[in-house]
Amino acid sequence: MKDVKWGIIGTGRIAHKFAAALKECEGAGLFAVGSRNVRKARAFADEFGFEKAYGSYAELAQGSGVDAVYIATPMASHFADAKLCLENGINVLCEKTVTLNCAQLEELLEIAQAKGLLFMEAMWMKCLPLYLQVKKLVGEGAIGKVLQVKADFSNFVPYDAGDRLFRADCGGGALLDMTVYPLTFAAAFLGNEPSEVISQAHITRGIDMSNTVLLRYQGGACASVYSGFELALKNNALIIGEKGSVVMGDCFFCTDSAVIYDENGKEKQRIELAKRVNGYEYEIEEFMRCLAQGRTDSELVPSCDTLAVLRILDECRRQWGLTFEQERL
Ligand SMILES: NC(=O)c1ccc[n+]([C@@H]2O[C@H](COP(=O)([O-])OP(=O)(O)OC[C@H]3O[C@@H](n4cnc5c(N)ncnc54)[C@H](OP(=O)(O)O)[C@@H]3O)[C@@H](O)[C@H]2O)c1
Repeated sequence: MKDVKWGIIGTGRIAHKFAAALKECEGAGLFAVGSRNVRKARAFADEFGFEKAYGSYAELAQGSGVDAVYIATPMASHFADAKLCLENGINVLCEKTVTLNCAQLEELLEIAQAKGLLFMEAMWMKCLPLYLQVKKLVGEGAIGKVLQVKADFSNFVPYDAGDRLFRADCGGGALLDMTVYPLTFAAAFLGNEPSEVISQAHITRGIDMSNTVLLRYQGGACASVYSGFELALKNNALIIGEKGSVVMGDCFFCTDSAVIYDENGKEKQRIELAKRVNGYEYEIEEFMRCLAQGRTDSELVPSCDTLAVLRILDECRRQWGLTFEQERL
């Protein structure tokens, strides 16, 4: 099979990690880089061995001939960047949170569907071997019926007015940057349709610095999630079932180890699964598998799951009265 010609849009922190993984993926051609600044694009292209460098995202989308684009820009730019690529016939792997809200994602999915293109959220957690193994074991009844999920994602990030994390105009805030992971995790084990969402946030300068979200499901299962920029936590995830529990250690969304306990808290099974490169290789391989099979939706990261989590994020911001300037136009 011929190589997939990959392009990257945005040359920031995560784009570097992604490119490092892309280099190690069989069948991935490092083809084009798009930046708002052609010198940055050239430097990035030279660092990783991409053929072409463009000084605007439009030039890459309209003239490079890439098959697939990875979008690694701030949240508020994802909608326009993804739309530009889809309208130019390019398959899109888009960083989380894929859009500011559900309505934007629905519009992108409509374009992708009309053009027969693949659109996938870069939710790398859902492609990691350890996560998939835990999902399989829990699905097979390793801890009985799942009753609760508890997950945190909190780091101490010093305030920097220029950082996209703290800029409302970039779609900043903990909700879209961090909460998306524990909510995706909770939904993966409890379902996409909580019957109730209750949330609180510490909001300042137009963004949430931290938040707590509680989900309640028909039948009584629930999830509790804390995330934020204000202090560092261990970021464990705990799946509680009728016959035991699973703990995914330090940074649950990218950890290499998980432990299954029985109902008395006794260790039953320890799973260790190291990543091959840095973890981003698995989402790349899933994306390319979909392309090879002519799929327009991923089985590991289906768009219905992405939409379901965005629906919860929308509901949290509705409860807080928080909108982004792009939504007020
Ligand atoms: N999967 C993960 O583990 C993970 C980790 C971190 C972040 N992310 C996601 O990846 C995306 C990028 O995050 P990041 O931490 O890499 O951000 P970053 O370091 O700030 O880089 C973002 C890049 O986007 C481009 N950009 C376009 N418009 C911009 C604007 N108005 N302000 C600033 N930059 C702008 C810039 O590239 P050019 O100057 O080259 O155009 C910039 O370098 C976000 O969606 C984030 O949620 C994912």
